[in-house]
Amino acid sequence: MQHAIVTGGSSGIGKAIAVLLAKEGVNISIIARRPEVLDIAKTEISAAAIHAEQQVHCYVADVSVRAQIETAIEQSIQSLGAPDLLITSAGIAHPGYFEELPLEIFEKTMAVNYFGSLYAIKSALPAMQKKQQGRIVILSSGAALIGLYGYTAYGSSKFALRGLAESLRGELKCSGIGVSIVYPPDTDTPQLVAENLTKPEETKLITGSAKTWSAEAVAIEILTGIKRNNFVIAPGLEIKLLQVLHSLIAPILNWYFDKLVKKVRSH
Ligand SMILES: NC(=O)c1ccc[n+]([C@@H]2O[C@H](COP(=O)([O-])OP(=O)(O)OC[C@H]3O[C@@H](n4cnc5c(N)ncnc54)[C@H](OP(=O)(O)O)[C@@H]3O)[C@@H](O)[C@H]2O)c1
Repeated sequence: MQHAIVTGGSSGIGKAIAVLLAKEGVNISIIARRPEVLDIAKTEISAAAIHAEQQVHCYVADVSVRAQIETAIEQSIQSLGAPDLLITSAGIAHPGYFEELPLEIFEKTMAVNYFGSLYAIKSALPAMQKKQQGRIVILSSGAALIGLYGYTAYGSSKFALRGLAESLRGELKCSGIGVSIVYPPDTDTPQLVAENLTKPEETKLITGSAKTWSAEAVAIEILTGIKRNNFVIAPGLEIKLLQVLHSLIAPILNWYFDKLVKKVRSH
């Protein structure tokens, strides 16, 4: 039976992927900080399982604390074997004006989003390489395809993941390990709710015209991309176009975004 480890698997996109995988008969390990949220997710994911012997395990860990995530991954491998899928979905977003964002937000965002994913990958990779199979799926963001107003902390951490994934892909190809990078659009999850609390008006205007996806719809796109062994998973036409054309269309988009910013500032 296959094994998937999902960091941030207790909520949002991570949980939706875990549910879909459970429906396909996969054993699941989910990792996050809050035990009570993990327990609720475990019930939901277990209910989606199709075999009586299928297992769903929870591990309490902060992905930004190296020792904690290493221990969680080690324990999950001891229980259910090397992962066929490692999905790094744990993430946070705190938009705001650059001058007003304290450095601690930049440090924390990078610690959770970038280093939290890196630690998980480093911990799981040796067991995956021994098996010479598996796929690492890194959750980045549409905000990693073009720099967006208000996302200096979040966007940088997601751009860093893009750099990691692009370099890692070639390095792991020979050892039979696939890498995917996901650029989700705005998705209706607790992260988006939290984000909206500090999102500048300008950012709301820039991102507001794009459709908000459900976590389930994004998870379906991710699973389809995994099954096709796609390196890039870009849900929806807007993100697909941005992913292919970002360098070409950046000057036009920036001109348009600057116009929107001017509009908010003139009020
Ligand atoms: N929602 C969007 O619009 C959107 C768009 C683009 C990209 N993304 C990315 O997609 C991924 C999933 O986001 P989501 O919207 O599904 O978020 P979510 O519903 O808020 O879920 C985040 C998950 O990460 C866990 N988490 C957060 N900080 C953690 C930490 N330090 N250590 C361990 N676990 C941690 C949370 O559990 P605990 O809080 O209990 O730890 C939760 O399970 C993120 O990487 C996010 O940046 C989201």
